[in-house]
Amino acid sequence: STLRRSRSGSRHLLRRPFASSSAVPERKVAILGAAGGIGQPLSLLMKLNPLVTHLSLYDIAGTPGVAADVSHINTPAEVKGFAAEEQLGQALEGADIVIIPAGVPRKPGMTRDDLFNINARIVKSLCTAIAKYCPNAIVNMISNPVNSTVPIASEVFKKAGTYDEKKLFGVTTLDVVRAKTFYAAKAKVPVSEVNVPVVGGHAGITILPLFSQATPATNALGDEEIKALTKRTQDGGTEVVEAKAGKGSATLSMAYAGAVFADACLKGLNGVPDIVECSFVQSTVTELPFFASKVRLGKNGVEEVLGLGPLSDYEKQGLESLLPELKSSIEKGIKFAQAN
Ligand code: NAI
Repeated sequence: STLRRSRSGSRHLLRRPFASSSAVPERKVAILGAAGGIGQPLSLLMKLNPLVTHLSLYDIAGTPGVAADVSHINTPAEVKGFAAEEQLGQALEGADIVIIPAGVPRKPGMTRDDLFNINARIVKSLCTAIAKYCPNAIVNMISNPVNSTVPIASEVFKKAGTYDEKKLFGVTTLDVVRAKTFYAAKAKVPVSEVNVPVVGGHAGITILPLFSQATPATNALGDEEIKALTKRTQDGGTEVVEAKAGKGSATLSMAYAGAVFADACLKGLNGVPDIVECSFVQSTVTELPFFASKVRLGKNGVEEVLGLGPLSDYEKQGLESLLPELKSSIEKGIKFAQAN
């Protein structure tokens, strides 16, 4: 039966070399902003990831407590906490992946771009340290506005002579997570089977879920329902910001999404084939220098940036209307990095 086959399938998985602790390659993951709303649950989830051998937790406030707490969990990853700026180098040295959820989150009424002035500076200083202490690491940028912070990181790395476009990722996984959840509920399909690519960027209308490519496919959804699903995905962050009423933005779902994306990067590094996730990366898919689309991950980070595939007329329109906003957010980031 299917059940028996899937059971023996998972037993087989356990015997694969990377799943047994002795054969796991050494992988150090550093989280910058580890004591924050996202950083804490993300630290927890990365401590649970069997592919992580060293977990480095850095924040300018509160790290010792978070590191001590997480370190008591009886999983193999060895946890170290780093608190003050003079410890940032140690936190980063030897890192294979650096995840950055450092910075301020939105409050009701704010757009992601309103965070620009504070977060641009934080991202710039952290990326300067990455260029110095772990220039070969894969960077997972969570700090908003992602549409601008990723271009800032690229400029910092270019200036330092360490830029590798295959290793810089804007984390847009939460948009995919939301699109999957909302689609599954509306289409009445099992959420664990759902896949929905989300392309463009990571703010408002620049978030473009491609429900025409969603699987399992359904013809139960009409144009109005697709529009509503698109809007809810684009406004998912705001839904949480408003519900938290001044106490920040998505942290738990974001930590989950960040952990999913980092796990995909780790699998890619370890040579697991066919790892595909959507991410905001350097791209030639459109005329813009950065764009989110499906990306195949490999031993060097990006192995292949995949195209958009066939779009519905509604999605084509969405693509046209997002390009100018995304372009200006990218340029804003580049300008900031060049001027500062
Ligand atoms: P938070 O305020 O709870 O935590 C941020 C942490 O960063 C704090 O612990 C703070 O001490 C730390 N920090 C500040 N400056 C730092 C520096 N120079 N070095 C190291 N750590 C530093 O904020 P939260 O809710 O965790 O959000 C963090 C960021 O993630 C925000 O920019 C937010 O907009 C973004 N975000 C991104 C999402 C995405 O989908 N990419 C989704 C949700 C939030």
